[in-house]
Amino acid sequence: MLQKIDLEPIKETACFFENNISNKPEVAIVLGSGLGGLVKDLQIEHEFPYKDIPNFPISTVKGHKGTMIFGKLNGVDVMVMNGRFHYYEGNDMRTITFPIQVMHQMGVKKLVLSNAAGGMNPTFDISDIMIITDHINHMGNNPLMGPNDDDLGPRFPDMSEAYSHRIIKLAKEIGREFNIKLQHGVYIGVTGPTFETPAEYRMYHIWGADAVGMSTVPETIVARYLGMEVFALSVITDLGVVGQIEKASHDEVLHAAEKAEPKMVKLVSELVARWK
Ligand code: HPA
Repeated sequence: MLQKIDLEPIKETACFFENNISNKPEVAIVLGSGLGGLVKDLQIEHEFPYKDIPNFPISTVKGHKGTMIFGKLNGVDVMVMNGRFHYYEGNDMRTITFPIQVMHQMGVKKLVLSNAAGGMNPTFDISDIMIITDHINHMGNNPLMGPNDDDLGPRFPDMSEAYSHRIIKLAKEIGREFNIKLQHGVYIGVTGPTFETPAEYRMYHIWGADAVGMSTVPETIVARYLGMEVFALSVITDLGVVGQIEKASHDEVLHAAEKAEPKMVKLVSELVARWK
């Protein structure tokens, strides 16, 4: 039987950061596979390897760095998770969403999530950026399972606007202004670690999903539960489109993500500055 979520380690980790940083972050950003290049545009003030952060898990995936960075992006105080925790690594749902709880505990109310994903919409190309407008939780689990703490959020949280419509609108405006091609669509979260079979890609597309990946959904659920506003994007790193399916590999995913990185960095840095 799951117990009520333990707030002590969350508070301890939040205090650890607060005691070691100079500015309170306004926005938190989670960088997905191959998207660590945003760090080049950061004015880094403090950087903590996950192994030095009390209560933090360790990320084991190649292409995920494993540091929490505090600094400025386009003049805005941000905290950046360079590397996230995945369900397929063997972590439980509470562990992978622990950093979101810590961000919330520190008073952060704005969250940007990024990931690499397989595209199933036939109009998508490799290295396209897709704004996530909604998600399907197909991970067979939910980070809010267990007794609820009514002080944190409601027992049955609303998910009618998981991804902020006003921030999606803002992102589209930025895309037009800077000539960044932006797709938009529904993300389906799966456990991995296997990539999809052609039949699975086809089924997920029939279900209404445009992209598939192994992260983001648990983080969004917890952030919305805690009342944070969420913006998320996928970089399309391989195609699960009937007739165009090729062998997917992690190296290809990283390569395609790196190609999209400058566009993503421009979008996110403009977005944080205009997100009021
Ligand atoms: N499927 C699931 N996760 C992924 C994919 C994919 O095709 N590409 C990148 N992450």
